[in-house]
Amino acid sequence: MKRLVNPFKPTAGAEPPVLVGREKVIDDFSDGLAEGAGARGRLMRITGPRGSGKTVLLTELGDLARNEGWDVIDETARDGLCDRIAHAASSEASRADLSFDLHAGVFDFHAATPKPEGPCDLRDALTKRLQVLARQKRGLLITLDEVQDANRDEMREIAAAVQHLIREKHDIAFVFAGLTSGVLDLVNGEALTFLRRALPEELAAIPTEEVRAAYRETMVRSGLDIEDEALSIAAQATVGYAYLVQLVGYQVWRAGKGHVETSKLITAFDARQGVDAAIDEFFDAVLESAVAGLPLRAVEYLLAMADGPDVCPTAFVADELNVAAASLTSYRRMLIQRQIIESHARGFVTFAIPYTRRFLRERKESLLARYGVQ
Ligand SMILES: Nc1ncnc2c1ncn2[C@@H]1O[C@H](COP(=O)(O)OP(=O)(O)OP(=O)(O)O)[C@@H](O)[C@H]1O
Ligand SMILES: [Mg+2]
Repeated sequence: MKRLVNPFKPTAGAEPPVLVGREKVIDDFSDGLAEGAGARGRLMRITGPRGSGKTVLLTELGDLARNEGWDVIDETARDGLCDRIAHAASSEASRADLSFDLHAGVFDFHAATPKPEGPCDLRDALTKRLQVLARQKRGLLITLDEVQDANRDEMREIAAAVQHLIREKHDIAFVFAGLTSGVLDLVNGEALTFLRRALPEELAAIPTEEVRAAYRETMVRSGLDIEDEALSIAAQATVGYAYLVQLVGYQVWRAGKGHVETSKLITAFDARQGVDAAIDEFFDAVLESAVAGLPLRAVEYLLAMADGPDVCPTAFVADELNVAAASLTSYRRMLIQRQIIESHARGFVTFAIPYTRRFLRERKESLLARYGVQ
């Protein structure tokens, strides 16, 4: 019998067996590639919470561009970003030059010059690269991940360069991704109006129906089968959150694999078992590290929210804790910065990560005991 391999990939940045619920972004982007210089889909910002699938989506858009013959530079926002992009552009430009010259039947040794050392000018490097690519009717995509951590000056430099290149009608696309609130802070900052106009793609919850269909397809392709009820249980438990789609899929598949000698059918019982295991793992892998090292007051803030409505007034938290609202401002800010909670409207907060309420309720005693509170 063929060895059964779990097809799900609950690992950051790992390509999932089926990329669920991203048709719109992919269509917007491929329309952008087709529509020519300056098209809307060629300047895009992807936002979403941790584990919503931003990195995987950037990889997918990069593959799509490569399939259309484009060159791609993938970067992550860390210091020295502009230099790294400029260097990637110039070293690839010489490679592209070489292949172009070879295509043309001319062997030109200057094309093989080694990668330049030291700082180089970003706009200049990109322009040269785009000119070489243009001769081959190809474009250049730059993807930038973790943009919430970007240095503001470097973002300004990149934005200015991309803006000029678009104005000069070069075939360039720029897609950047990051955590929602961090990216909004960035693009609403000074001199970044150009990036504010990027086509916004927020990675909201994936519809359960689509998760369900992807689960069926993935399970069957992997050699198991699954009951309708099991599919519903598993899909609903993911609440459309990309990382949970993989984690739940992985554990449900595993539960089914446990009895493959007698039956290949994943049952509702297996699904429940798998979901419990997945949520436990999610608590340990995601929520425990989210709350690790918080001051007691911040934990109490979260516990108070867990007793409130989904969109929780900050006044409710202050009431629960019996303190003045102003004394909680720094804790609220800390929790927002650590992406545990979000504030979409003034005076209201929500949990940023699914299952946080359940986690807090189930582990309340153990959380408080860490601070010596009985
Ligand atoms: N559209 C999708 N359908 C199914 N699974 C997905 C999808 N997008 C991402 N995943 C899975 O979700 C997990 C998280 O994806 P990814 O690392 O891209 O998230 P992220 O938003 O970049 O997270 P972070 O903010 O922590 O960097 C991975 O296991 C990945 O395989
Ligand atoms: Mg990521």
